[in-house]
Amino acid sequence: MMNKISYFRCFLIGTMLSAFSFSSLAQSVIIPIESKSNAIVLQAKQGSIPKVVYFGTRLPNKDEYSKISAQYRQGTDYSGIFNAAYTPSGSRNLIEPAISVTHADGNNSLDLGYVSHETRTLGNGVSETLVILKDPAYPFQVSLHYKVYANEDVVEQWTTIRHQEKKPVVLHKYASANLFLKANSYWLRQYHGDWAKEMQPEESKLTYGIKTLDSKLGTRAHLYQPPVFMISFDNPSMEDQGSVLYGQVEWSGNFRVDLELDPLNNLHITAGANNHASDYSLKPKEEFKTPVFLYTFSDKGKGDASRKLHRWARNYRILEGNGERLTLLNNWESTFFNFTETKLAQLLKDTRKLGVDLFLLDDGWFGNKFPRNSDNAGLGDWQENRQKLPGGIASLVKEADANGVKFGIWLEPEMVNPKSELYLKHPDWIIKQPNREEYLYRNQLVLDLSNPKVQDFVFNTVDGLFSMKNSPAYIKWDCNAVIYNAYSSHLSNQSHLYLDYVQGLYNVLERIRAKYPKIPMMLCSGGGGRVDYAALKYFTEFWPSDNTDPLERIFIQWEYSHFYPAIVSANHVTDWGKQAIKFKTDVAMSGKLGYDIDIAHLNEKDLQFSQEAVQTYNSIKHLVWHGDQYRLLDPWTNDVSAMMYSNDTGTSAVMFSYLVGNRYGDESKSPIPLKGLDPQKNYRISEINLYPGSKSAVDSNATYSGSFLMKVGINPVINSGRKSVVLQITEIKN
Ligand code: GLA
Repeated sequence: MMNKISYFRCFLIGTMLSAFSFSSLAQSVIIPIESKSNAIVLQAKQGSIPKVVYFGTRLPNKDEYSKISAQYRQGTDYSGIFNAAYTPSGSRNLIEPAISVTHADGNNSLDLGYVSHETRTLGNGVSETLVILKDPAYPFQVSLHYKVYANEDVVEQWTTIRHQEKKPVVLHKYASANLFLKANSYWLRQYHGDWAKEMQPEESKLTYGIKTLDSKLGTRAHLYQPPVFMISFDNPSMEDQGSVLYGQVEWSGNFRVDLELDPLNNLHITAGANNHASDYSLKPKEEFKTPVFLYTFSDKGKGDASRKLHRWARNYRILEGNGERLTLLNNWESTFFNFTETKLAQLLKDTRKLGVDLFLLDDGWFGNKFPRNSDNAGLGDWQENRQKLPGGIASLVKEADANGVKFGIWLEPEMVNPKSELYLKHPDWIIKQPNREEYLYRNQLVLDLSNPKVQDFVFNTVDGLFSMKNSPAYIKWDCNAVIYNAYSSHLSNQSHLYLDYVQGLYNVLERIRAKYPKIPMMLCSGGGGRVDYAALKYFTEFWPSDNTDPLERIFIQWEYSHFYPAIVSANHVTDWGKQAIKFKTDVAMSGKLGYDIDIAHLNEKDLQFSQEAVQTYNSIKHLVWHGDQYRLLDPWTNDVSAMMYSNDTGTSAVMFSYLVGNRYGDESKSPIPLKGLDPQKNYRISEINLYPGSKSAVDSNATYSGSFLMKVGINPVINSGRKSVVLQITEIKN
């Protein structure tokens, strides 16, 4: 495949081409791009732009795809290219283009004619279809790539662009993909957010014109808007029925998704890196590879779409997606910047006492000339603070070892405080305008990762930690600032900065993973300010939000669950929220469990409960991490919310249920129908994670058929005295 290190500027012109054998046909050709359940069908004629004639559930007989377009009588498309597979601009287009360029001679027009296509198998149900397009008037070529994961019905689509003009061609827009959908109406579920308010959903019917979802923040790029969305066809989205498309730009920087409802009621989705302030000057023979646009389609509702995406993510994307995870105790909220070696020694003992696998030392451990005692100093100076940690990290690792736990550490290696030695030493490594006043975000600035020297610095920071004799076993990688005053003293072309920054970040992560393929790392960005599937290739988990109030988390985790499996969602029990520790723990257990509380401050019963909860979690964690997830009761529309996980043989499952309503009499009045079980099997239900001394209201001696549990359901008996209930569902073998 592509040279991993140079995403944009690879000179492997022949490499992609030689891997395929091409067919070039004079007549109209049908190109079906099929997965197990779905198909995208292109129709192409030599020299004309390929058209999308179908997007949806696969037809059993491929021959019928050619009959589809004749069935539409929607009106006149004067341009003849509304349904282009990749819309060029400046020739005939009347709608938002996917690509727009200025040629070497200053001409702004582009036309793209079909040359050839080929599909090759990459193994294990994965294939790639490549469609080559060329401008008849210029030596300018665009290749469309469709990577299909057949069993999961997931498609990754991207574009490669190159030319042989005499001078550079400026790319003004360079979408990854250009989808063309047909339905009676389209409902968009989009997300907005801010610090501690991630994944706030909004669902609305798309109207004529363009709706744009985007980010221009540079780093922490998804703070206001994540790069995920869904489109439901004909009706608002439903959990177990209806056609729905999930989309995501796999890009940890500025992204842009245009949703255009054209005059003939077709929906165009044009998605990719944001071209805002990012014209790209492409040299002759250089290849420009766009980020990937990821999508999955289901005609069985959101639940099916999520489970497919989760399976894809675990099998192909997330680092160690089918592997193990470490439960942990973090010190951020119990100490903030204020700790000593003695205090940490105590926390290491507490980690063991609690029974989790790892202690995670958060912010505040570094900086000497400018000690990191608050968030206004020290970032960039990654040496242990000698006052707080006279024995250094090595002694903490040894101490952790002596307690039988592992040790992890927080880093924010892309950033710098003006109060730091790094800032004084390398002002040229920092993104800021040479002739304007600095503008800080959380008292810090962003390092210029487009500069290979800065990439080396970031790599060496991580490498330095991991290659020590007594090295940490885990990293929380944070990224708290956005880019203001975008300017790089390294780049000659400033409009490359936003793209090159992200590529620089990936270069560093590639190097880290080449040397340390398995060490777990948490992706954090002041909470969930940067979560996407390009980054998750390098991370084992992400931090969904600094907001750990369990009631808020039920909603935040619910929305993330549409796009990400529970194994990557780090959920911690903290002091946020006034709820009982049982409620907090039950909420955190529905993902990857962790703690950020002062264990020494727990009363005896809360401590006993927490110790038992960790053991309980160990007995169900494989279901949560590797099982199929079913959303049962939506917290936005019910007083009680519920979610379950079942294994693929339907022999074992776990259900989490929570009271989210706070009015008088709010309780689980009706049984909750379960999902993902075998109707023929018989099950026993037992309540787990009970608080010491409390009795379950659920009869663990009763047996139920899978049919009963899925048609009628089970009542967890949630009420104001039992605000959260975890049920284990186990097959009874006769
Ligand atoms: C960010 C993270 C927090 C914590 C602090 C430390 O806000 O989201 O979890 O690590 O930084 O400064």
